[in-house]
Amino acid sequence: MTSSALQTAVTEIAEEMAAREDRGDVASYIPELGRIDPRQFAISVVTRDGEIACGGDCDTAFSIQSISKVFTLTLALGIAGDRVWNRVGREPSGSPFNSIVQLEREKGIPRNPFINAGAIAVTDLVLAGHQPREAIGEILRFMQFLADDDAIFIDRNVALSENATGFNNRALANFMKGFGVLENEVEHVLGVYFHHCAIAMTCRQLALAGRFLAHNGVRPETGYSVVTPERARRINAIMLTCGHYDGSGEFAYRVGLPGKSGVGGGILAIVPGKASVCVWSPGLDVTGNSHLGRIALELLTSRLGWTVF
Ligand code: DON
Repeated sequence: MTSSALQTAVTEIAEEMAAREDRGDVASYIPELGRIDPRQFAISVVTRDGEIACGGDCDTAFSIQSISKVFTLTLALGIAGDRVWNRVGREPSGSPFNSIVQLEREKGIPRNPFINAGAIAVTDLVLAGHQPREAIGEILRFMQFLADDDAIFIDRNVALSENATGFNNRALANFMKGFGVLENEVEHVLGVYFHHCAIAMTCRQLALAGRFLAHNGVRPETGYSVVTPERARRINAIMLTCGHYDGSGEFAYRVGLPGKSGVGGGILAIVPGKASVCVWSPGLDVTGNSHLGRIALELLTSRLGWTVF
């Protein structure tokens, strides 16, 4: 495929998405996200040889929300290795992202690191007895390093908004603390969790940050190894099976790539060996995943023949 063919596909998809009326609903349970204009759309694709194809609002920063969980999992695996899997499983939950029902039956061990309970348990491992601000800084610097962009920031208003309304996450965290799954203070863990969910990035920055997952753990432009090939493969596997909560089967069926969504409307998708892709459209479907983002990825993969299957 020529580089112009990729840019043409991306431009056409951005134009098709801009024309659609069906946009889904923005996530109003975090009041600050409820104010986002749902008419925005962006797509960025970064290929192995460094080509970047962009369409729509790809330099507009948005709240990455649960997409941050891919990167906190990567950090936690670096800190604790396979001990991560004593605290959290790696099976799809089949339940909504904020569900609590399985936690009691499964002794406070969340099904996977991407549902809220699992991500809170992973955040506890990243916190690892440090001050919350140190852990927040470490996560932010990791994102800046991966995207090669120091301008990436945390949207304080989103973090405060989620802190003020995070009753479900407090319930999940306290429940896990009761089972002895969290080591740090609940409010410290949640403080770090709310802040990493509130990282603001553009589609271009997120696609750049995902490169190591597309290329066996290596940032291809520098040859720098972020994680081992085995670890990159495993993170991709969990993205494929759990990255869209109870919409994970549908996403695999329609898009056929590892992906991770966030309620800010972003999706990071990985085309192993080929590209890292980010799409953003703030309106969500009933499973809390970007409505037009998923449709755009389905168009991209079918037009370019990109799939892991
Ligand atoms: O904890 C929450 O509810 C949000 N900070 C993150 C949820 C999320 O992004 C789910 N993704 N689709």
